[in-house]
Amino acid sequence: SAQSNTFKIGLILPMTGQQASTGRQIEAAARLYMAQNGDTVAGKKIELIVKDDVATPDVTKRLAQELIVNDKVNVIAGFGVTPAALAAAPLATQSKTPQVVMAAATSSITEASPYIVRSSFTLPQVSVVMGDWAPKNGVKTVVTLVADYGPGNDAEKFFSERFQLNGGKVIEKLRVPLRNPDFAPFLQKVRDAKPDALFVFVPSGAGAAVMKQFLERGMDKAGIKLIATGDVTDDDQLNDMGDGALGVVTSHHYSAAHPSAMNKKFVEAFQKANPKMRPNFMAVGGYDGMRVIYEALKTTKGQGGGEALLAAMKGQVFESPRGQVLIDAQTRDIVQDVYLRKVEKKDGQLYNVEFDVIKGVKDPGKAK
Ligand code: DHB
Repeated sequence: SAQSNTFKIGLILPMTGQQASTGRQIEAAARLYMAQNGDTVAGKKIELIVKDDVATPDVTKRLAQELIVNDKVNVIAGFGVTPAALAAAPLATQSKTPQVVMAAATSSITEASPYIVRSSFTLPQVSVVMGDWAPKNGVKTVVTLVADYGPGNDAEKFFSERFQLNGGKVIEKLRVPLRNPDFAPFLQKVRDAKPDALFVFVPSGAGAAVMKQFLERGMDKAGIKLIATGDVTDDDQLNDMGDGALGVVTSHHYSAAHPSAMNKKFVEAFQKANPKMRPNFMAVGGYDGMRVIYEALKTTKGQGGGEALLAAMKGQVFESPRGQVLIDAQTRDIVQDVYLRKVEKKDGQLYNVEFDVIKGVKDPGKAK
C-alpha cells in the first residue's frame, strides 16, 4: 500500500500443468530483472509473490482476489493464458490495481479493463506479417490450423484476411482443442487438401508436438510447407525439435538469436542464472513487464496508488531485448518490431534467425 515501505507485486502464473514452461520462463526473467536492478525502488522494498493458477481462470480469479484484498499487492502481473487474464480483469478495475499482462496475447484483453497494460504481444500483430510474407514467397494456397480459443481465433482471422488481401487462397480453417490436442486427424485433412503451406498457431509449449507430427506424417516431403507464428518454434523447445525444423519460417517479436548487444547480455545473464533454459518470448514479456513496473514506481516516487502507477506505465518507450518498444498510451498495448525468422543451425544449436523486420507494428486488432 501507499503508506508501507514494501511494494508488492502479485505474479500469477501457470507453474504446473500444460502451460508450466510459461510460468518457469516468466518467473526466471522477473527474478533476473530484480537481481540486475535491485530490490529497492524509490525507497520501497520490492516483494514478489508468485502464485500458481495452473492456467485455470477460476483459480486465477481467486488468487487475484486474495492478493488484492489480503496481501494488499500494488500490482498484479503474469497471466499465462488469455482466459486467466480475462478472469482477473474485473478485479483490477474494481480495486484500481494495475494488471500487467506479461504473456496472454488475444487482442481484446486490454479492452477488458482500463487497468490492464500489456508487455507481451498480440496474435494479430505477428499474424498479419506472415499474411504479407507468404504470398510474396511462393505460397498461394494455405490451410490454417489453430488452437481453438482467443489467440488462435485472432491468428486465424488476421492471417487469413491479410493473406487473401494479397491474393492468397485459404482452402480450409481447422481448429484443434486447447486441452490435450491430437493433431493427427487434422494433419491428415491437411495432407488431403494439399495446400502450398500449413499456417499454424498453438500456444507456447505445444509447438514441439505439432512439429513432430508434421514431420512424422511426411507433410514436408509431400510438398507442404510449415509456416507459423513464433509460438510454434518456441525457443524453450526449439533446440529439441531436431533438424526437421530447419528452414521453417515464422513471424514473431522475439528470438533468443536477436542480434543486439542488449539481447546478448540478456540471454547470457538468463542462462547463467538458469543453466538448463534458453529464454523465450515469455521470458522477455516478463522481463519487460518488470521494467514497466519499476519505472512507474520510480516516476511516482513510491507515493502514488494504482491510478498514478497506471499513468506512469502508459507511454513508456524503451529498449527491450527484442528491440525498441512503446506502451501505447491510448490502448495500453505494446507497439514493437515484428521479425521474419528462419530456423537455422548456429554453433550446433537450432535458432530462429531473423532475416527481415517490420518496424513499430501496432496491434491491428485495435486499428480503426
Ligand atoms: C497465449 C498463450 C500462449 O502460450 C501463447 O504462445 C500465445 C497466446 C494466450 O493464451 O493468450
